[in-house]
Amino acid sequence: MARNKIALIGAGQIGGTLALLSGLKQLGDVVLFDIQEGIPQGKALDIAEAAPVEGFDSRLQGANSYADIKDADVVIVTAGVPRKPGMSRDDLVETNSKVMHQVGEGIKNNCPNAFVICITNPLDAMVYVLQQAAGLPPEKVCGMAGVLDSARFRHFLAEAMDVSVEDVNAFVLGGHGDTMVPVTRYSTVAGIPLPDLVEMGWITQDKVDQIVERTRKGGGEIVNLLKSGSAFYAPASSAIQMAESYLLDKKRVLPAAAYLTGQYGVNDMYVGVPVVIGDKGIERIVELKFTDHEQEMFNHSVESVRELVDACKKLGAL
Ligand code: APR
Repeated sequence: MARNKIALIGAGQIGGTLALLSGLKQLGDVVLFDIQEGIPQGKALDIAEAAPVEGFDSRLQGANSYADIKDADVVIVTAGVPRKPGMSRDDLVETNSKVMHQVGEGIKNNCPNAFVICITNPLDAMVYVLQQAAGLPPEKVCGMAGVLDSARFRHFLAEAMDVSVEDVNAFVLGGHGDTMVPVTRYSTVAGIPLPDLVEMGWITQDKVDQIVERTRKGGGEIVNLLKSGSAFYAPASSAIQMAESYLLDKKRVLPAAAYLTGQYGVNDMYVGVPVVIGDKGIERIVELKFTDHEQEMFNHSVESVRELVDACKKLGAL
């Protein structure tokens, strides 16, 4: 049986890490694509030279032509520019929308059957532009944010309660920004919901509130530390978990930016919700029951995504 083919569009910080993880986890052959010449080839060769040591047989290839992503099974998109000082969010939307159009064309012409995971920010708007440009069915195009935001939440909770990260489960929903919604009621340690853990004295409500706030600003915390560039290890791990669920038909239940058609009262937009990822792509959207307060926070988050989508429409990107 032929190996799966994984196309990584954008060979920057996240793209390089995605390539390494794809090799280490033996997910398939990897094509690293970028508009810069030399970078994808150099990173592919460097990782290929790690393969004998690590013991994986994936083929790694750098590319500057979309023809090289032909028949890819999975495409993970990180192409774009980060926000630079003096750049407004709308400037970023304009630049990265254009990139999503190019990438969408490349996917449409070369691998229209792929499962596509978008990471480029502003995520919830860019994944929509990408899906429209690629012309793929919405269940084959999703955005990675929820797994990352939930992983940050899980890490902080595990640290605070001094338990294994493996036993902490959490859902962070809504848009990928300061308005994201860490749903504490559905966050658990070995099945015990967070509100019960507060009652049991494992963690205080104050600490939970601090962790919620820190999670919301998790991306910014890393940017402030790195000074140049943003997080890349955890974003790459998160996208690989989604790709693996698709390729192995694991049907993991993960939060992802998915196209909504009425679920949660949202229509015609990508927003972070729990989904089931299997070999058909986004196979199911899980509709949680919210309390009034949770629904209010979710609606607020959806509004901030809507503003971004409107900005894309104004620019003619959607
Ligand atoms: N086509 C292909 N690649 C492109 C294009 C394009 N039109 N425009 C830019 N790129 C490439 C750049 O050359 C660069 O190598 O995208 C890559 C982006 O890499 P980094 O700048 O290192 O960014 P990274 O940290 O990987 O993050 C990528 O993910 O989390 C988001 O906000 C982040 O949008 C950003 C994206």
